[in-house]
Amino acid sequence: MANKKVTKIGVLTSGGDAPGMNAAIRAVVRTAIYHGLEVFGIMRGYAGMVENDIIEMNSRSVANIIQRGGTILKTARCKEFYEYEGRVTAYHNLKEKGIDGLVVIGGDGSFKGAQKFSNEFDIPCIGLPGTIDKDIAGSDVTIGFDTAVNTAVEAIDKIRDTMDAHDRLFIVEVMGRDAGYIALHSGIATGAENILIPETKTDIEDLILSLTEKEKRKKLVNLIVVAEGGEFGDGNELAKIIKERIPSADTRVCILGHIQRGGSPTCEDRLIASHMGYYAVESLLVGRNNVMVGVVNNKIHYTPLDKAVKEKQKIGQEWMKIVKILAS
Ligand code: F6P
Repeated sequence: MANKKVTKIGVLTSGGDAPGMNAAIRAVVRTAIYHGLEVFGIMRGYAGMVENDIIEMNSRSVANIIQRGGTILKTARCKEFYEYEGRVTAYHNLKEKGIDGLVVIGGDGSFKGAQKFSNEFDIPCIGLPGTIDKDIAGSDVTIGFDTAVNTAVEAIDKIRDTMDAHDRLFIVEVMGRDAGYIALHSGIATGAENILIPETKTDIEDLILSLTEKEKRKKLVNLIVVAEGGEFGDGNELAKIIKERIPSADTRVCILGHIQRGGSPTCEDRLIASHMGYYAVESLLVGRNNVMVGVVNNKIHYTPLDKAVKEKQKIGQEWMKIVKILAS
């Protein structure tokens, strides 16, 4: 661990926003000020770094934001930062302000950028996992997941009311990109009969068979929660397959979409964001570089950024067995 003292740090949010990002920004800013550091907010992720959209922050800049969804620093996906020339421009913009440490709050795409940047230039980067998808290794939790999954649960509970009233087959598609955590957690919590996620194989014939049996009994009331990146495509594609095999099925599809990304963060997300934000600054102060601050078994845990990106979290097959048993 190098121990060059940081004096001015930058903080940015990048990739898809996640509820709790504001709580993390607040923790970073206030911890930095506590240690006598200057803090700069970089607007719109790496785009603000390239375009020199960087503002000085103080304790008041982060007042009254812990409860707000979205991100006060805004977020974007920045093509220029993928190119070396873009990163050189970004480096000069930071250097010009004397910024000598960076906190990047985002998901795997954001970490890939941070890793490249800190390997190429003398500015250490610390990552905080901010994504509703929970698709980052090296942390049991990510900022935003708990809020997103609770939003999904609330919505699915409402869908179940109308589904039951009509004895319908409902397919609810949730977000997660190529990860199935939101589907798995929200599906179990709402008593879904079937949960389809990219991490495990789905026996589609078995699914059709059980639906057909229910249909014969005129009781095709069934909730399927599907992850958007599922093996059989999204919710509409799955509905098409079921319709082809069971034409009489009264099927509806609900795509929850971006409501899962918004809203006031849960207590859990505010806590982990505050905890991680504090340790991001502490990490820069002790000379850490190129690591993500995560939480494993309720303890702060550091993972090299490249490992956090490459090794996804795993979902055990036994969860699917549990889903089946509990829904029978
Ligand atoms: O990574 C967060 C996420 O919400 C994914 O779950 C989803 O696939 C994607 O972002 C949607 O991205 P966009 O907001 O660009 O449509």
